[in-house]
Amino acid sequence: MLQVMIINGPNLNLLGRREPEIYGEDTFEDFMLHLKGKFVDSDVELSYFQSNHEGELLDKLHEIGFNYDGIVLNAGALTHTSIALADAVAAIEAPVIEVHISNVHKREAFRQHSYISAVCEGLIVGFGLRGYELAVQYFV
Ligand code: DQA
Repeated sequence: MLQVMIINGPNLNLLGRREPEIYGEDTFEDFMLHLKGKFVDSDVELSYFQSNHEGELLDKLHEIGFNYDGIVLNAGALTHTSIALADAVAAIEAPVIEVHISNVHKREAFRQHSYISAVCEGLIVGFGLRGYELAVQYFV
């Protein structure tokens, strides 16, 4: 059984309420139910972790990064600021896919640099919550 974890960073707990014109109207909890349903017949166990705290995200990556088969990471704004998160992604063994709900390249200039892209297996950007599904599909 493949073990895949989705990790969301700061402010992504507010999905569904936060700027719905950019991030959509679904909560992540509802989306996780949908996603688990989609992969119910696949040999994959999906889990989810969200934190608004950089250190907690690092701790989670260290905890699972040597025994999970894949990590889907939307680091939120920490994508654009955190060398520590990039170092953690580089340090672990599990492949990481960077996901962004919005097309960050269509937005403000400060969203167009990611510290973590260079240490990720691949990137999925701008496909809404669908991006998480595509990332899980890749691992499956
Ligand atoms: C985001 C894009 C980031 O620039 C932003 O800070 C977020 C969400 C996205 O999923 O589109 O919090 O990662």
